[in-house]
Amino acid sequence: MPMFKKTTLALALAGATLAATAHAEEVEVLHWWTSGGEARAANVLKELMEAEGYGWQDFAVAGGGGETAMTVLKSRAMSGNPPSAAQIKGPEIQEWGELGLLGNLDDVAGAEGWDELLPEVVANIMRYDGQYVAVPANVHRVNWLWANPEVLDAAGVEMPTTLDELFVAGEAIREAGFVPLAHGGQAWQDATVFESVLLGGQGSEFYQAALVDLDPEALGGDQMIESLEDFKRLRELMDEGMPGRDWNIATAMVIEGAAGMQLMGDWAKGEFTAAGLTAGEDYLCAAAPGTEDAFTFNIDSLAMFRVTDDGEREAQQALARLVLEPTFQEAFNLAKGSIPARPDLEMSEFDSCAQQSLADFQRTAEEGGLVPSMAHGMAVRADVQGAIFDVVTNYFNSADMTAEEAAERMVSAAQAASF
Ligand code: GAL
Repeated sequence: MPMFKKTTLALALAGATLAATAHAEEVEVLHWWTSGGEARAANVLKELMEAEGYGWQDFAVAGGGGETAMTVLKSRAMSGNPPSAAQIKGPEIQEWGELGLLGNLDDVAGAEGWDELLPEVVANIMRYDGQYVAVPANVHRVNWLWANPEVLDAAGVEMPTTLDELFVAGEAIREAGFVPLAHGGQAWQDATVFESVLLGGQGSEFYQAALVDLDPEALGGDQMIESLEDFKRLRELMDEGMPGRDWNIATAMVIEGAAGMQLMGDWAKGEFTAAGLTAGEDYLCAAAPGTEDAFTFNIDSLAMFRVTDDGEREAQQALARLVLEPTFQEAFNLAKGSIPARPDLEMSEFDSCAQQSLADFQRTAEEGGLVPSMAHGMAVRADVQGAIFDVVTNYFNSADMTAEEAAERMVSAAQAASF
């Protein structure tokens, strides 16, 4: 099903011309950055806006992965009252653009030279119909494994580099009395782990065919079945407390030494950083097992809504400009765990995980292996993503659904959702 039903589309379009809630020279910004590390990062932008004399209305909607935030955003847009800006990512930017709801950022992009500053893969996502409508805050890498070195030591294991090693290390960690893999049983977290396992077991070409191009042969074939089986097996390494657990609570289990590892994007690093820990010493990062030569990217971006108030529009332009300026890119990304969206910045303040992320982003962009994250809305449209999430999470939690059956459902999920 498309993001909006046709009958409600006209309503949304009509509503778009009404004034938004934000007052003159003020922006209302919707995001879901509510964990400790994320809130620190979001605050950087608020402070920079306020330092330039603009007001900031925080529209934070809790819920990792942003599903709740997107539901709230849709209802605000439907009632003709969108915020000034919202964290909207990947192909979803196109969906909002098609509804005619987004404002044009070409003036600020031209003045600031965004075409020269941004890698093409990033700039393309920010444009709708050739015009800039969104500004990128960062590049997150999703395919990471995080670990507590003391727990690994206690279990006598090293950071696993393949899926087989992950299972072996996990068993040793369990025997040493810890939870091997911290996880939160929420659909988006299941999908985050699933895509890393699929990438690690089958490689980036298969990932691209299945989760980006939605090739039915890949979605329903043997490699998918194997990935689903690997994924399900990971349950053995998780604990009984996982249902509904938030991702940052799972990260806290690693920080506190209750769990050994977590498969999660590098917003988890924001939590380690907020806890005052040092990469490479107090915690370890490595590409998710088997994914050394791949990089699943997840670019956070703020899209601007079309507004009628001149003051609000001016504030939006300032927001867009600030987001790509070095001050924000450095401070925000140091707190958020990601790397800057513009590759020309001095990186000496960044830790070893961020340095590795940047090097791997550039290497995979050149040599292949740079793929968009399905779980984080970068690969397919929201309806397809939602249908895949359903299959992944139902399979993961089902006592009797086979991997073969789940693979068949993958094929129909992609077909039913496409339009
Ligand atoms: C991602 C988002 C990140 C982080 C994460 C957990 O989708 O891109 O910025 O917020 O969800 O909520």
